[in-house]
Amino acid sequence: MKYYPIFLDLAGQRCIVVGEGKLAEEKTAMLAEAGAAVKVISSNDYRLGDLAGARLVIVASEDEDINRRTWEEAEAAGILINVIDRPARCRFIAPAIVRRDPLLIAISTEGESPFLASALRARLERWLGREWGPFTTLVGRIRRDLRKRGVSITEQTGAYRRLMSSDVRSLLRAGRSQEAEHRAAALSQSSVRHSGRVALVGAGPGDPDLLTVKARELLADADFVLHDALVSTETLSLCGPDARLEAVGKRGGGESASQEHINARLIELASAGHFVVRLKGGDPFVFARGGEELSALTAAGIDVVVVPGITSAFAAPAAAGIPTTMRGLSSSIAITTAQGGDSADRLGELAQASDTLIVLMARSNLEEVARVVARAVGGSRPAALVSNATLPNQRTVSGPVGDIARLADREAIEAPATLIVGAVVNQAEAAAWSVASIAASS
Ligand SMILES: C[S@@+](CC[C@H](N)C(=O)[O-])C[C@H]1O[C@@H](n2cnc3c(N)ncnc32)[C@H](O)[C@@H]1O
Repeated sequence: MKYYPIFLDLAGQRCIVVGEGKLAEEKTAMLAEAGAAVKVISSNDYRLGDLAGARLVIVASEDEDINRRTWEEAEAAGILINVIDRPARCRFIAPAIVRRDPLLIAISTEGESPFLASALRARLERWLGREWGPFTTLVGRIRRDLRKRGVSITEQTGAYRRLMSSDVRSLLRAGRSQEAEHRAAALSQSSVRHSGRVALVGAGPGDPDLLTVKARELLADADFVLHDALVSTETLSLCGPDARLEAVGKRGGGESASQEHINARLIELASAGHFVVRLKGGDPFVFARGGEELSALTAAGIDVVVVPGITSAFAAPAAAGIPTTMRGLSSSIAITTAQGGDSADRLGELAQASDTLIVLMARSNLEEVARVVARAVGGSRPAALVSNATLPNQRTVSGPVGDIARLADREAIEAPATLIVGAVVNQAEAAAWSVASIAASS
């Protein structure tokens, strides 16, 4: 680390800006906003001795002689100086900042790339909504109150955790400040029994970048995260540092960890006042027993919020370049599972009724599924099996549905995999061909 990061209290302190132009004006305004007593000296008017008594000096001059002389004077007097764009003449550098007063986030690349610093700032600006300002003020007020009342550090930490994982920020974002104040005040009381809540959250097909913004925020705030086996380590690393993770559910076609156990655990944790994220692969309501969890929690009087995720039923074909609908080829989709205990007749009916058939949990009995579909729509209908869609080890095999099981075995395609049957499958090959031909001709 080349620079030691600090925030300076410059209230009433003598600060000098030497130079002129937009940058000089901006620096002057920032210093004034921080309460400094700012003096501006134009490049022409600077004389040795002008910096006497200053805490901090910023030089925004194109004149190299001024840059050198101001640097020498400030160094000799031990004054902090920044000659803009002259790293060798800077005792400090100014970071890129995200302002959510009183929350202030400073970003530095130690001068390596101002572009990166401002790109990162733009990302943080989008991520941290305006509500973080009033939220920080509110938490600060509560902190002062708790300290005045001599509340122990452990209890204070409990109150801050409850505030972080609460809906106070959402209320502030919606402009409902009074409600937010009341909610925050109630949450800060450790004598009161606090009710927890559960979020049933979709983790998407695997790539952590496909999580929704809301899912990311809830993961960062959760006290407990009960997750499926298919949720990737990268996704779980988005959980807050204090979140406790519990793996529930088994990989593959086997029974998931007793649903009763999961329901009971969710109710137990939420009743103890915790904020629990139940994180499920794909969408929580698509072949994921999210509906059962919702019913159990609602019946137990627990607050529940449902956050949809991108289901693999759509992500798998999309990631393989297969459009699920396409003008002139497919205007209907049926999504089903090979494990649901539905009769072969039902699967055959769905295959006939839809232009595009999507079958989840298809890998372990692909042969049987493919046979039923082939019998219903003919063995030559195009099919594709996409495994580990959106992950680095994504693989696709395609061919006539009558042959897809043999091809999948030959290519050693593993679960989790999604089967797509319909004329749209050929579009992926057509697209791959045109992409390849563009590449070849460029
Ligand atoms: C128990 S279901 C859960 C479905 C999940 N709720 C959803 O909306 O994607 C599991 C099945 O989803 C499919 N699946 C999940 N992740 C997948 C992935 N990354 N690629 C392909 N298929 C996937 C497979 O068919 C797998 O057997």
